[in-house]
Amino acid sequence: MSLNSNLVNIVVFASGSGSNFKSIHQKIKEGEISGKIKIVVSNNPNSGALKYAISEGIPIFIHNKVRFHNEEKYYESLSKKLIEVNAELLVLAGFMKKIPDEIVAHFERRIINIHPSLLPKFGGKGFFGMNVHRAVIQLGEKESGASVHFVNKIYDDGPIVAQSVITVNDNESPEDLAARVLVEEHKLYPEVVKAFCENRILWENNKPIIVKGN
Ligand code: GAR
Repeated sequence: MSLNSNLVNIVVFASGSGSNFKSIHQKIKEGEISGKIKIVVSNNPNSGALKYAISEGIPIFIHNKVRFHNEEKYYESLSKKLIEVNAELLVLAGFMKKIPDEIVAHFERRIINIHPSLLPKFGGKGFFGMNVHRAVIQLGEKESGASVHFVNKIYDDGPIVAQSVITVNDNESPEDLAARVLVEEHKLYPEVVKAFCENRILWENNKPIIVKGN
C-alpha cells in the first residue's frame, strides 16, 4: 500500500454499466492500486457507472453534446475539468464517445482503453459491445479475449499493453462469450492501472511493456 501523497490522479470515462470501473475502484479501495479516482466522466446521465460513482461519493461530470453543443465548448469544458482535477491517467472503461484529438495529444501515453477482443482483430468503428462477440463467433474464431491499449487518435488503434486470451467454446452464444470476456476484463484492467500507478509501464521502440513488481 502506498502513502496518499503518491496516489496517481485517475479520471474514469464510462458510458454504460461501469463494471470495469467498479473492478478498478474495488482494487483501489483494497489498497492494491496506488491511485485515486478524482472524477467519473460520462456522456450518459443514466449510466450505471454514474449511479455507482454517486453511491461511492466519487464526483461526476456529465459531458455530452446536449450540455456542450458547440465543438469548442465541448472540448474546453472537458479540458478545463481535467486541469481542475489535475488528471494524470485517463481510463476509458466502456466509454462510447471519441476523446477530442487535442486531449489525446495532451495526454499522450496517459490514456488507456479496454476492448473486448484480441486487438487488432475486431476493433475500430462499429466494433463495440455485443457486435464484437457476434462477429467473433460468426467468423469461427478459436480464441477471443480482452485487450488494454493506449489511446491514439484512431479508434482501437493505439499500442497494446496487455491482453488476456480465452478459448471460444463450440456452439457458444455471443452473450456467453461476452460474459466470459468480461470476467477477463475485470482482472486485466485493474492490473494495467496498477502497473501504471507503480510506474511499471516502460516504452521500448514505441511499444509499452509491463515490468513485474516486487
Ligand atoms: C466492456 O466489455 C468493454 O470492453 C467494452 O464495453 C464494455 C463496457 O462494460 N468496450 C468497448 O466495446 C469499447 N470499444 P462495462 O460498462 O460494464 O465496463
